[in-house]
Amino acid sequence: MKITELPVPESVKEVLLRSGIAELYPPQEEAVRAGVLEGKNLVLASPTASGKTLIAELCSLKHILEKNGKVVYLTPLRALASEKLDEFKKYTTIKKANGKRVNVGISTGDFDSTDPWLERYDVIITTNEKADSLLRHRAKWMDEISLIVADEVHLLNESERGPTLEVVLARLMQINPEIQILALSATINNVDEIASWLKASYVTTEWRPVPLKEGVLLHDEIQFKDGDARKIERKTKDNTINLALNTVKTGGQALVFASTRKNSATMAKKIAEHTGDVLSKPMKRTLEHEAEKILSAGERTRISESLAELVRCGTAFHHAGLAGAHRKLVEDLFRQGRIKVLTATPTLAFGVNLPARTVIIQDYRRYEAGYGYYPISVLEYKQMAGRAGRPKYDKEGEAVLIAKTADEADYLMDSFVLARPERIWSRLAVEKIIRGHVLATIASDFAHTENGIYDFFGKTFYAYQYDVKAIKSIIAKILKYLYDEEMLELSGENIYATKFGKRVSELYIDPASAVVIRDALRQKPAYLTDLSLLHLIAHTPDMGPVMRPYSQELDQMAVLMEEHRNEFFVEVPNEWSDHIAYEEFLGEIKTALVLEGWIEETSEEKLLERFRAQPGDLYRTIENAKWLLHATHELTLLWKETEIRSLAYELVERVTKGIKKELLPIVKLEGIGRVRGRMMFNSGYKTVEDIKYAKMDDLVRLLGAGTAKKVKEQVGGFVKKETWEKLERGEEGKQKVLTEY
Ligand SMILES: Nc1ncnc2c1ncn2[C@@H]1O[C@H](COP(=O)(O)OP(=O)(O)OP(=O)(O)O)[C@@H](O)[C@H]1O
Ligand SMILES: [Mg+2]
Repeated sequence: MKITELPVPESVKEVLLRSGIAELYPPQEEAVRAGVLEGKNLVLASPTASGKTLIAELCSLKHILEKNGKVVYLTPLRALASEKLDEFKKYTTIKKANGKRVNVGISTGDFDSTDPWLERYDVIITTNEKADSLLRHRAKWMDEISLIVADEVHLLNESERGPTLEVVLARLMQINPEIQILALSATINNVDEIASWLKASYVTTEWRPVPLKEGVLLHDEIQFKDGDARKIERKTKDNTINLALNTVKTGGQALVFASTRKNSATMAKKIAEHTGDVLSKPMKRTLEHEAEKILSAGERTRISESLAELVRCGTAFHHAGLAGAHRKLVEDLFRQGRIKVLTATPTLAFGVNLPARTVIIQDYRRYEAGYGYYPISVLEYKQMAGRAGRPKYDKEGEAVLIAKTADEADYLMDSFVLARPERIWSRLAVEKIIRGHVLATIASDFAHTENGIYDFFGKTFYAYQYDVKAIKSIIAKILKYLYDEEMLELSGENIYATKFGKRVSELYIDPASAVVIRDALRQKPAYLTDLSLLHLIAHTPDMGPVMRPYSQELDQMAVLMEEHRNEFFVEVPNEWSDHIAYEEFLGEIKTALVLEGWIEETSEEKLLERFRAQPGDLYRTIENAKWLLHATHELTLLWKETEIRSLAYELVERVTKGIKKELLPIVKLEGIGRVRGRMMFNSGYKTVEDIKYAKMDDLVRLLGAGTAKKVKEQVGGFVKKETWEKLERGEEGKQKVLTEY
């Protein structure tokens, strides 16, 4: 089917033709035939890179241009949301009937807000969690949504994120029964069930833009599913390395999936020892330049240094321990074909679009503490394998599992290559997971009676698969808990949220975290310090298990814990009678100490070194801490608790910027973060007033022309006309304004 034949406005066709898309891919054609452009609900289940997004785009523009509609595009990850934003941007030149242009926005941060400014967008791209939080605030514009796109809907199967997606979809269907739903999914076994839950029809295809060959490598030979076989040169003892080198030598790129962060880094290092021989001189020069970029992005740390070293050899690793800026650089370099071999943890398989000619699955097992090793699911294997084959660059893609023995090769062939992906199951019926959703159902006026609540949960995928009776007892238990903890109150037959309950729901924290915080407000420690509050938030279930102490660190943590014993809100568990809780507590102390180091302006490098942590984990801990400190601050407002309130307020600011209290006045300026703020403070600029009267030359010397000008613009004050004009022309050196953390 040609783009020109599509029942969409001409302006949309023009944009597509201009971007080089002239004809629909077969799965897209099937989706159109299934009536998706006529407003029918659809589940489109189709392999990686088969063009599912385009269907979402066409459908969205139909709503915006022909029905005056509004679209919400749900993604499971922030990184995916920004990728989608880029893809939708191409339509913003199109004018709507009212003469205004199509407007695309993104909203992924800050869970405690209605974001009223989103109202002016036609397409809002967001994460499932953010959409859930917006629904809890009953953001007004949500009633106007006419199309909802649920991307990667197979994630319903994931224990943490699946339930949120399921609740969001059920709520949107409840608010607006007329809403059109388009769900996009990888190939799964029970598409029919998901479709029937969403009152949708479905299209499943196995079509791929680049054919995929799946196989198993044993010794020096790959056996393919289709009966083909291929020999590779055994340059080293490690078959993963041999296959990766083989790909690079023949002009392709390889993506190696490793089971842990550590394995991915070690493997990249081993491969880098050999890739040097295959890279051309000009390529080496380019990579040298790229390595420098990695080093100058953010603070220099051990991990950024080793990454830069690898990039020089055309390899890299990619995992959640990397800082966001570095991850992005690595992704870009791989897409540009400069990085030849990328090793990654499996999270990449669910995330961004990074195809490679050869996908190597080095390890089909995962380890979980207390659980041991277990094989990955077929679905996960297929997701990884599906990354093979770069459209426009490769004739076909290869996905290869690595076997050590003939037996293992048979096992891998049967259990993964030839196997069908598992069914998707709802993961909703877990108390810890639905606590917050039960509270939100009442607090945001979706239901006010016990039956109303069961009615709502009767619309979830869980109820579709199992029957709502199966979670009734869990819900009843949760209702009692929320009532006992004073988040709910009764009025005759009706259930309402108390002020406390309502705020907890909006703050998007687990009710159990709210209980921890509330109890703390009732009983202060002997000494209230920064550490008191940092530990308190680390003690809430919402902080998650981010910073575990290493075994050598345990004693040190125990000593520190003794030193600070009378600063904690919570009693220290007994080491002998409750060992598990005790170790958990030491972990919380570590998290609190990391945060304390951060706001005492310890350099990132030192902090990571001292606690043997990785940048990605540090940033995640900081993000969580900001959110939980904000929640603590908000909850103090309910109880007129002033001492903790002002401390929480101050800590939100300090954790956001990573600074001591004394820098608070000046980091309010844009462009001034912990590093520049410290430089200014130490040079005597301690307040906005000081900066206002500062000489421009002095500021330029300290901050560079770009930042100095930006700062001066914000504070006002006198600057000579000539100096200003000189700055405008950029004669004071073309230093770029870097955004600091
Ligand atoms: N009809 C088409 N003709 C040419 N290129 C297309 C067409 N449709 C989509 N593409 C391109 O194919 C690429 C992959 O598409 P898309 O990201 O939608 O895949 P997907 O099916 O969502 O895969 P995944 O499961 O990995 O998310 C994009 O770069 C897109 O521009
Ligand atoms: Mg997609």
